[in-house]
Amino acid sequence: MAEANNTPTHQAETLIDIRQASKVFTQGKLQLPVLQALDFQVTRGEFVAIEGRSGSGKSTLLSIIGLLDSFSAGEYLLLGQSVPGLSAYQHSVLRNRHIGWIFQNFNLISSMTVAENVSLPLRYLAGVKAADYRSRAAQVLAQVELSDKLDAYPEQLSGGQQQRVAIARALITNPSLLLADEPTGNLDSQSAEIVMNLLSKLHQDGATVLMVTHDPQLAVRAQRRLYLADGQFVATASAPLTATPPTAVAPVPMSMTTAATEQRAS
Ligand SMILES: Nc1ncnc2c1ncn2[C@@H]1O[C@H](COP(=O)(O)OP(=O)(O)OP(=O)(O)O)[C@@H](O)[C@H]1O
Ligand SMILES: [Mg+2]
Repeated sequence: MAEANNTPTHQAETLIDIRQASKVFTQGKLQLPVLQALDFQVTRGEFVAIEGRSGSGKSTLLSIIGLLDSFSAGEYLLLGQSVPGLSAYQHSVLRNRHIGWIFQNFNLISSMTVAENVSLPLRYLAGVKAADYRSRAAQVLAQVELSDKLDAYPEQLSGGQQQRVAIARALITNPSLLLADEPTGNLDSQSAEIVMNLLSKLHQDGATVLMVTHDPQLAVRAQRRLYLADGQFVATASAPLTATPPTAVAPVPMSMTTAATEQRAS
């Protein structure tokens, strides 16, 4: 019906719009350019995987997109708002309300229960009563199938369960954007599969997911794969793992060939 109405709202809302952006770290007299003349757009509802060798700038880019850091130059619009032009208040509202983070090492607080960990982001949102924290936590914990763990402590959970708690925490504010930096990096393959199935399901249910991963087997789950090298996305690959690595634009990074060789050898 929405198509019949011809309303473009759900079809092409640009959530992330990055143009000619760069990031340079300064260490003493040294300047380390990490991102250079980067263009990157993400539409609401997309599931994008970012790959690239260690040190290529994947986490840096995700941190900037998630408003934990900023570009040295260039344009960044998040939800149509120019990020460099935001006041400190608008910045924190955008970050707390619209961004959900999932980290490799879960980042749960060990002295808090699962329900307390999950409801933590609500404390930074205006208009949510403390009396509602637990029921809101219970709702998102049901989504990740951990309804029986509300009062457990992180150390009483497996790695996979801890990551599902972290995903519930990311979901509790109903964010516009889920950012995942190596979400399965600390997990065994079975737990990784469960977490990936969960991210895929969240995407199918409408979430916009931006995931950094080293693992091509996980990246194929995304709709769009981007490879970061020399500060830019050098190629896209939606082809399966067995396909020839994409060339063009820039020379294929050494790590790509190395990774492919290691993949075959293992
Ligand atoms: N705060 C910082 N100050 C100086 N240099 C930094 C800083 N943060 C990152 N870097 C450098 O920027 C480059 C990119 O780092 P980043 O963490 O984004 O890489 P990555 O692609 O996420 O790597 P990995 O796959 O190992 O996680 C690296 O050379 C790193 O040393
Ligand atoms: Mg990283």
